[in-house]
Amino acid sequence: MNDRHLELFIQLIANNLGLHIRPQDRTALSQKIVLRMKNLNLSIPEKYYQLLEADTEQSQKEWRKLIVLLTTTESYFLRDVGQFKLLEKVILPQIIEYKNQLKEASGLNPSLRIWSAGCSTGEEAYSLAILLEKLLPDWENWNILILGTDINEEALEKAKQGIYSPWSFRLVNPGLQQQYFNQHKNEWIIEQKLVKNVKFRYGNLVKDEYPNISDDINNMDLILCRNVFVYFEAQYIALVLKKFYNTLRAGGYLMTSHAELHGQVLDQFRAIIFPESVIYQRSEVGQKEVSRMPPYIYNIGEATNNSQQELVGLDPNSSAPEKLAETEIKPTAKLEPRVSPLGEDSLLSPTLQMPVLFPISNTTETPKPLKVRELVDNILRSSDGKPEENNTVNTRQISSSLTVEKERQRAGINLLQEAEAFCKNKTYFEAIKKAEQVIDLYPHNFKAYYLLAEIYANLGKYEQAINYCHQAIQVDSLSVFPYHLLAHIAEENGDVEAAKNLLKKIIYLCPSFISAYLDLGNIYAGEGNVKRAKKMYATSCELLKTLPPDTLIEQQGKITASELLKYVKAILVKLSIQ
Ligand SMILES: C[S@@+](CC[C@H](N)C(=O)[O-])C[C@H]1O[C@@H](n2cnc3c(N)ncnc32)[C@H](O)[C@@H]1O
Repeated sequence: MNDRHLELFIQLIANNLGLHIRPQDRTALSQKIVLRMKNLNLSIPEKYYQLLEADTEQSQKEWRKLIVLLTTTESYFLRDVGQFKLLEKVILPQIIEYKNQLKEASGLNPSLRIWSAGCSTGEEAYSLAILLEKLLPDWENWNILILGTDINEEALEKAKQGIYSPWSFRLVNPGLQQQYFNQHKNEWIIEQKLVKNVKFRYGNLVKDEYPNISDDINNMDLILCRNVFVYFEAQYIALVLKKFYNTLRAGGYLMTSHAELHGQVLDQFRAIIFPESVIYQRSEVGQKEVSRMPPYIYNIGEATNNSQQELVGLDPNSSAPEKLAETEIKPTAKLEPRVSPLGEDSLLSPTLQMPVLFPISNTTETPKPLKVRELVDNILRSSDGKPEENNTVNTRQISSSLTVEKERQRAGINLLQEAEAFCKNKTYFEAIKKAEQVIDLYPHNFKAYYLLAEIYANLGKYEQAINYCHQAIQVDSLSVFPYHLLAHIAEENGDVEAAKNLLKKIIYLCPSFISAYLDLGNIYAGEGNVKRAKKMYATSCELLKTLPPDTLIEQQGKITASELLKYVKAILVKLSIQ
């Protein structure tokens, strides 16, 4: 298939699904298209394009098959502990309280409506059901809808079956697994009582109209759309955000994954920033529950001091569902700069090292975090804007927050060290678990993302490795290591041009990165481009000479600088006599 054909398919896919096909994925895409053409006995790309473009039943059938090849359906229970803790401790209790007030006023049974948009195999929707079952002792008296929609029909089929392998529980406490699932051989079947309120349905976020009254997708209290936009082109994220806004009830919440809305204009939403995650609220106020919320920044669960256990653990022995007391969600602040021992400090700009506090403005400018003084002033002010009379309470809260934050940092360091140790021993399953826990605590931790990328690359799971490399790059776009790993994966996948571009990018970012010259030298030598290969090897020799001879060059298998220099010189001699 030529470049022009591929370009047309890429555009068609974006228009229909919102998906962004990255340059490094083009080869894989063309292979997938060819595979589908073979299945249909088509030999000309134009014919396949026409089929997809047509508005017929056959076209829709074909899209559904192609979608299975194009989408990433990775998911697991309680994915992102921090976000689920936020839901359990703040967002859902707020919604429940509001609904209870409505019930008192109307006398009708309360309703709760949640949409897991891009639900994949259903873990997210069932995780929400588990939270609600825990939070609502009278759950049978509620009209609950947890709706999962997706475009991947195979994933939806799996979601409807509710049968999962142990891999879906990789961050879940075994007690919870036992409580809500029944084991059958090596699989786990979801409890029937949870299935009752969870529905799954096909839905295309880009093509379908939302709200959709006939499909009951309207008036939502909460929309979760996580790890979906990461695959989208920016313009389609904007399109879907408008639909989400109109599908939420006033005061309803939207949760995406971290940084997925970066660069989007969000002037219709109010961003509420918690250390665990940002959550977006449909901005018209006028609802009692909104005015009850203290403004913008919160630390949750810190008063209870057992954050990690509470959610992942969801202690099956605890009797009544704990509800966070009003005082526990008062805003608190971490006045200490957020210098993280996990390597986050060097990655954040000095202003961002403070607790971030910015309501979304209606301008397109990037909202600026407030300065410390403003922040402290805000925190010491009561919700009606007047200075708090008794500041000692807040001071106490602040100091207790600091202690909790220190504990959190310590836990993070330990987890990362454990993850690295497991990785070193090639105990990858455990290493992944630990690194994911680090991310749950510190969603901007570069090392954890990069470690996950390395682990998945070692396991030959390149799709996940690439995904984590990109997440690492999002945290630190100047680090060359993820690009280096991406270059190796591209080479491994036979995409030599992509590998070359990545290596050149590395040299641009870090002109002294010896391995990039060596790798480029090897590629050029393999292509028979002796002149360029020699240039690359010669540059690496020059750089190696500047290093103390016993310096270890990690990326080349821990060889010393002097050994590597000898080796590269020998290659240069060989190339010169060719
Ligand atoms: C990585 S999964 C995320 C699953 C889950 N939300 C989570 O965070 O674990 C992404 C899902 O988005 C779905 N998706 C991609 N494009 C979509 C679209 N245009 N409309 C609906 N779902 C879409 C994919 O089929 C895939 O199942």
